[in-house]
Amino acid sequence: MNAEANPLSVEVRKDGVAVLTYDIPGESMNTLRADFIDLFVRAFEQVDKHPDVRAAVLVSGKKEGFIAGADVKMLESIASPDDARAMVQRGHDVMAKLAGSRKPVVAAIHGAALGGGFEVALACHGRVLSNAKSTVLGLPEVQLGLLPGLSGLQRLAALTSLQVALDFGLTGKNMRPEKAKKLGVADEVVPREILLEVACKHALKLVGGASKSRRKPDLQTLALEKNPIGRSVLFKKARETVAKKTGGHYPAPGKIIDVLEAFGAKGLEASQELEARAFGELVKSEVSANLRSIFFATTALKKDSGVDSEATSRDIQKLAMLGAGLMGAGIAYVSIDKGIAVRLKDRDGASLGRGVKYVSDILDERVKKKQLTPRDKAQKLALLSTTSDYSGMKTTDLIIEAVFEDLDLKKRVVAEVEANGKPGAIFASNTSSIPIGRIAEGSKHPENVVGMHYFSPVHKMPLLEVIRTKETADEVVATAVAVGKRQGKTVIVVNDGVGFYTSRLLGPYMNEASYILAEGAPIEFIDKAMTAWGWPVGPMTLVDEVGIDVAAHVGPIMLAAFGERLTPPATIDRLISDGRKGRKNEKGFYLYGAAAKKKGKGKHVDETVYAALGLSVPKKSPVSTAEIQERCNLQFINEALFCFSEGILRSARDGDIGAIFGLGFPPFLGGPFRYVDTLGPSAVLERIRHYRDRFGARFEPAPVLVELAKSGKRFHG
Ligand code: NAI
Repeated sequence: MNAEANPLSVEVRKDGVAVLTYDIPGESMNTLRADFIDLFVRAFEQVDKHPDVRAAVLVSGKKEGFIAGADVKMLESIASPDDARAMVQRGHDVMAKLAGSRKPVVAAIHGAALGGGFEVALACHGRVLSNAKSTVLGLPEVQLGLLPGLSGLQRLAALTSLQVALDFGLTGKNMRPEKAKKLGVADEVVPREILLEVACKHALKLVGGASKSRRKPDLQTLALEKNPIGRSVLFKKARETVAKKTGGHYPAPGKIIDVLEAFGAKGLEASQELEARAFGELVKSEVSANLRSIFFATTALKKDSGVDSEATSRDIQKLAMLGAGLMGAGIAYVSIDKGIAVRLKDRDGASLGRGVKYVSDILDERVKKKQLTPRDKAQKLALLSTTSDYSGMKTTDLIIEAVFEDLDLKKRVVAEVEANGKPGAIFASNTSSIPIGRIAEGSKHPENVVGMHYFSPVHKMPLLEVIRTKETADEVVATAVAVGKRQGKTVIVVNDGVGFYTSRLLGPYMNEASYILAEGAPIEFIDKAMTAWGWPVGPMTLVDEVGIDVAAHVGPIMLAAFGERLTPPATIDRLISDGRKGRKNEKGFYLYGAAAKKKGKGKHVDETVYAALGLSVPKKSPVSTAEIQERCNLQFINEALFCFSEGILRSARDGDIGAIFGLGFPPFLGGPFRYVDTLGPSAVLERIRHYRDRFGARFEPAPVLVELAKSGKRFHG
């Protein structure tokens, strides 16, 4: 049999090791598809029956990657929880065959062994890993609202401890080879060149049930996990942590704990029953469907050039970064990290020094976490050079600016770059609010001007919003998108306008919170209502973070651009007169610095703010939690729909991703457009009209909502 004909081919070596090569034809990556069960059963039968075979090694036929997990698309076709449960049970049977094989099977892993891929490896009798950077193990199912369905949790717990299985199962984080070795998950870690040989030798060593070098649990683990009281402490704590982290919005983590708890108390079989049932429920749950939709959207965006034409991107190996502040340094970091050289410019040595230190500190942190060696750090830093003039810019095809948010300055900078840089170079602005078209007015080549809107902190926030004007060339847009992807970002492309897409949504959302405040609701009550709904921070905290001065500056611009709907509340001027800018000057809705410290742990409202607003310190909220949530969210969602109606967005998909990855819209709801689909456009329209009757123009529904309510159509299929 050869690999082309059969995704799981079997070849018997002279030393009696059968090499099972998994290689799905026509795919760059191996996944577990619906037919994997039959394939594995057939291959194991061959191994079992073949008289010359003494042991087996399971290996991937791909250049990179072992098995990346279950085929997520396949999950969409599962009709009911019962079908899913039956599928999982069949999976359990085949894994039991593998684990119970008389002839030892060793997984030889190079590249990613994730989800089902890791679970298959865990059911093997041993695991040998390549020491490549790309080699990672992990159970990321939780991130899709699922749990591992091939008993990987239990097998990981049996190999290591319940605590380790909880940790990896609940976070979905990666396990690198070194850690796997330390935990006893990997028997050996070797260079890729000798991976197969070592795995075969290891398999032969295990023939006849030779003992494995399993790590012995330490005393503390034994004390905690081998008695019911210790276990109940462990699981209680895990449940508390999960409740705090998920706010009860995500069902999968609780089920993961249930399965491990059942395993700890009653063993594998009892826990498998629970696992199969839980998988069935989760796979058909709305939360998992929404999380999977995000996965599909990001996968599609990876393949999207960002333009509808055939235009291709320029090859960018070096870029220039103007401004070494918070954003400039962050963008410099994500660039050099991915091998793009950066020429960093600021006004003086002190500013440059701060920028370089910012980059160096992030690298240090990664060295400390053992993600990088000191040599890696040095190599990356060598890609960063600094300047306080335009020297060295004649050779860069892309210049990104992150100087102060000041239109005149930005226009001046464009002209300077055109005079001193490479002719035809792309000029990208990281402005958070100025329309790119306004900046392009300072340019002789507006076709080369584009927005690249990153989010703070750049190395942590996953989104890049690329903004094109009517004049921006397709090839320029495609280049900005390609660079963003290389920097590790999920990239959406939007059309130019005030606030583009992401910044614009915050306007009416924060306005509404301020209106509610003016009606007498306590600041922390408003914030708590919104975080309970699923936002990472509340709107009042957000105003403090963004800056009250920034909000005050943008308010009238939005009003001018979008009309009465965006009327800012009068309260904002009072805050400005009171000298409040938010966190940046430690004077806003909350206390900061020494005043906060004096009050003890946690966040404390600065109660003097009420007097500044002409309000008395509120005792009770006149507006209910549910109403606060509905009003603020409807404003946010309605504005997203306006962006759709006006053609700011290329698709509802981009609108969902922008809101989730850029602004923290709750992922379990799948994004504002998917949420409208879930509630039904008519129902949403009815609620917006309800508030329009109460509050007037600021609840004017977006045209697309009215259309969908009429046609009965949805944004997504
Ligand atoms: P920052 O104040 O930390 O940094 C600005 C830097 O630009 C300073 O180091 C300053 O010395 C330098 N600079 C000023 N004029 C210059 C010139 N002519 N040539 C070279 N450097 C010059 O500001 P931050 O926060 O980094 O913001 C920069 C830009 O990014 C602004 O347009 C802002 O709106 C935008 N932005 C900011 C976000 C944030 O969360 N801070 C998020 C997204 C965008």
